[in-house]
Amino acid sequence: MKGRFITIEGIEGVGKTTNLEFIRHTLEAAGKPVVVTREPGGTPLGEEIRSLVLGHRDDGMASDTELLLMFAARAEHLARVIRPALEAGQWVLSDRFTDATYAYQGGGRGIIKGRISVLEQWVQGDLQPDLTLLLDLPVTLGLTRAGRRSAPDRFESEQTAFFERVRQAYLALAAQHPGRYRVIDASQPLDVVQHTIKHALSDFLAAS
Ligand code: TMP
Repeated sequence: MKGRFITIEGIEGVGKTTNLEFIRHTLEAAGKPVVVTREPGGTPLGEEIRSLVLGHRDDGMASDTELLLMFAARAEHLARVIRPALEAGQWVLSDRFTDATYAYQGGGRGIIKGRISVLEQWVQGDLQPDLTLLLDLPVTLGLTRAGRRSAPDRFESEQTAFFERVRQAYLALAAQHPGRYRVIDASQPLDVVQHTIKHALSDFLAAS
C-alpha cells in the first residue's frame, strides 16, 4: 500500500476535533493528499451504526453487541474507505480506530482482549495504523471540557471510573506499541499541544 494510515485517539474532551483539523492542515501543507474520516462511522452504514451505539434508545446494550457493532462499522469502513484510499496512495487520517475498541470495550466494559483480537484479525488482517497520536489528559479535566458541549451521548454518560479504565487501557496500548504511538499531553495549552503534534508529524514525514 502506498498511502499512510494515521489515527487519533483519546478519552472524551481531549480536543480530538480541533487537533484533527490541525493535523490535516499540517499534512496538506507537506503535500500529502489527506482523507479525513472517523469511527464509528465514515460510511453511510457506519454512520447509522454510530447513531445506534451512541444514542440512548438502547441504554444497557449488551457489551458484546456494542463490540460487534463497532467491528461491523469497521469492516464497512475498511472495505469502502480506508483500503481503497491507501491503495490509491492517499493518507488516511481517522478519528479513532481499533485501539478505541481495546480501550472502551476492553478497558471500559471489561471484554477480554482475546475476543477483540479475534475480530481485529478477521476484519483487518495485518493492516495497522502507521502512526497513532494519543491525546492524553486526566479524566476529570477531559470530562469537564466535554461537559461544556451538547447533551451527553451513551458513552459520555458513563461514570468517571469507566473513563479511568479507558485512559489506562490507552496508556497500556501506547506502552505496548512504542513504535507506532506518540503520547501527547493534552492538558497543556493548545499552542503547546499543537507544537508537540507538529514535531511528531515532522518525524513521521521525514521517515516516510
Ligand atoms: P467520538 O468519536 O465523538 O469521541 O465518539 C465516539 C464514541 O464511541 C466514543 O465515546 C468512543 C466510542 N467508541 C468505542 O467505544 N469503541 C470504538 O471502537 C470506537 C471507534 C469508538
